[in-house]
Amino acid sequence: MSCVMPVLKRALDRTPLLHLTVAYRGRTRRLALKLEGHGPSGSVKDRSAVGLVRALHEERPLTPGTVVVESTSGNLGLALTRLLRAVDCTFLAVIDLKTPPVTRRMLEADGARVLVVDEPDGQGGYLLSRLRTVRELLARNPGYRWPNQYENWAAPEVHRTTTGPEITQEAGAELDAVYVPVSTGGTLSGIASHLREYRPDVAPVAVDVRGSLAVAGTAGRRLIPGIGASRPSAFLKGADSYDRLVQVDDVEAIAVCRILAEDLGLALGGSSGCAVRAVVADLENDPAPRGLAVCVAADGGAKYRDTLYSDDWASAQGIAEETAAAKARLRREGLFFTRREPHHLEHRHL
Ligand SMILES: Cc1ncc(COP(=O)(O)O)c(C=O)c1O
Repeated sequence: MSCVMPVLKRALDRTPLLHLTVAYRGRTRRLALKLEGHGPSGSVKDRSAVGLVRALHEERPLTPGTVVVESTSGNLGLALTRLLRAVDCTFLAVIDLKTPPVTRRMLEADGARVLVVDEPDGQGGYLLSRLRTVRELLARNPGYRWPNQYENWAAPEVHRTTTGPEITQEAGAELDAVYVPVSTGGTLSGIASHLREYRPDVAPVAVDVRGSLAVAGTAGRRLIPGIGASRPSAFLKGADSYDRLVQVDDVEAIAVCRILAEDLGLALGGSSGCAVRAVVADLENDPAPRGLAVCVAADGGAKYRDTLYSDDWASAQGIAEETAAAKARLRREGLFFTRREPHHLEHRHL
């Protein structure tokens, strides 16, 4: 009997919420990070991978030896490699030069075949070149299977039924907004569907970087892997898909990552820094006191030690001074993070 469904059933567990207070320009707000880095391969894409592999298997059973190919900035690749290895299939990852070198090494060490695309797509990234490569591979190898994370609704669906409910259950009544970094838009779309049905009072907020076309905007330089895209998300088309978009500057997001690491001793990935930067921007612009903001912290920072957290990398990108200046300015403006107990436990020790 096929082991695919039992493997998928066991693949996911709840991820924790880390409760913080953020101070900025004399204001404070309660903030919680949904730490998706605690997933089995270390990112929010563990969930998407379960949905995508289930959909492939339901369409036509996956048998041992099947090759599955997908374009990935890295995290979905790590998640698919792990899942597919458990069911004796092979994963062929089409990545690009922006994928952190550590991620590439991890993919290979975990048994994936890796193809690196080095042709920029003219839209600030490599996505369109990666997709062209995937289509060429499929044309040459008719037996290959392609989940197509960019258009397959199985990805949003798994976030509607797992990530969304976990957030509303753990955050409770004080939840006010959920900030989600966007690339394919699958994570935000699924969480927003859950909120629309069960907590219509809570705002799903799309977080993107400048230079990305994932939600809106014009193409330009993008430094942070995992967030942004060279074309609009297929999942975020309806008026109900999200409440607001906050577009952040990637250098400022890197500065926020470094400040979080200093204050909490916790390194997060760049897209998490973007989500937190968006909360800070809203804190500045919105004088009304708000409830709890949850940020989807899509992955941890270990993979980015040689890039987002490295001064040498920042110099090589020509952003060392800009990053240091952004960090110094945010500090001068009073940006500071402290850990706190969740609301319902705050008075437990009195
Ligand atoms: C680190 C990170 N953050 C955010 C996202 C965005 O997720 P989605 O593609 O569901 O929009 C991804 C997707 O790869 C990611 O790897």
